[in-house]
Amino acid sequence: MKIIRDPVEMQQYSDALRHQGTRIGFVPTMGYLHEGHLSLVTEAGKRTDHVVVSIFVNPTQFSPSEDLEAYPRDFARDETLLEGVGTDSVFYPTKDAMYAGGYQTYVTVENISQNLCGVSRPTHFRGVATVVTKLFNIVKPHVAVFGQKDFQQLVVIQRMVKDLNFDIEIIGHPTVREQDGLAMSSRNTYLGPEERTSALLIKKALDRTRDLYVEGNNKAPVLLQKAKEVLEGSPRIKIDYLKICDAHTLEEIEEIRGEAVMAVAVFIGKTRLIDNYVFRNPS
Ligand code: PAJ
Repeated sequence: MKIIRDPVEMQQYSDALRHQGTRIGFVPTMGYLHEGHLSLVTEAGKRTDHVVVSIFVNPTQFSPSEDLEAYPRDFARDETLLEGVGTDSVFYPTKDAMYAGGYQTYVTVENISQNLCGVSRPTHFRGVATVVTKLFNIVKPHVAVFGQKDFQQLVVIQRMVKDLNFDIEIIGHPTVREQDGLAMSSRNTYLGPEERTSALLIKKALDRTRDLYVEGNNKAPVLLQKAKEVLEGSPRIKIDYLKICDAHTLEEIEEIRGEAVMAVAVFIGKTRLIDNYVFRNPS
């Protein structure tokens, strides 16, 4: 497994691969990897000849009050995990290599960045869209795989790729969960044992919503109320948002007719966790 730290070297390496006719798959991450990340790598491997994984804790997507410094990091462990799933190369740049002095260019995806996580994290998706653009220009992939766990991020990237004519196929991959249902996240390591138990209510709330929807309930206020009642089962949970939105525009809807998503973000102690349930077209 090749490890590349310099953006120019990565570009030259990708150019050489492309020159040979090799198809490049790409999985951007912030490291501290778990099975969710690894499933994206496996998916990219099925679709392409050479998989590049990037590990970069991107400062521009964290606000000053967020957990940039505390964000867990363990490159040696990540390296072993990535080798285990047959990763071909790892792009592991420094902050200075990505954002050199004088840096001043940002990518903004407008409306769909503003609802959901965009309300409490107004600059987050600008940071994500910017770093993903940079990574796309550095890694030059044919295919990039993103997790549906970060549903809004996936929609933002799909929109950006379309709007800016990136010649890259974006694949959304289903959320990987712990055996008890909690969506895997690098931030789960922040949870104390009792917080970890409370966190299970997130998946319970989504499951309750799914069951009611399958039984024929498609009114958003009713579904939201039931999900809220489940989350209120623990005093440790503080809801940041709980919304049902159109799956493409991310605008709130009153009734589920086409593809829609129930998206939730909660604080448990200081830890912010997100999850979602996608209502597929019933037909
Ligand atoms: P990170 O949180 O490390 O996630 C990297 C990728 O793994 C994202 O596409 C995310 O949706 C996916 N992922 C995380 N948990 C998952 C799970 N339980 N199941 C399936 N996929 C999961 O998302 C980011 O990093 C950053 O914003 C990034 C895109 C790298 C830009 O900095």
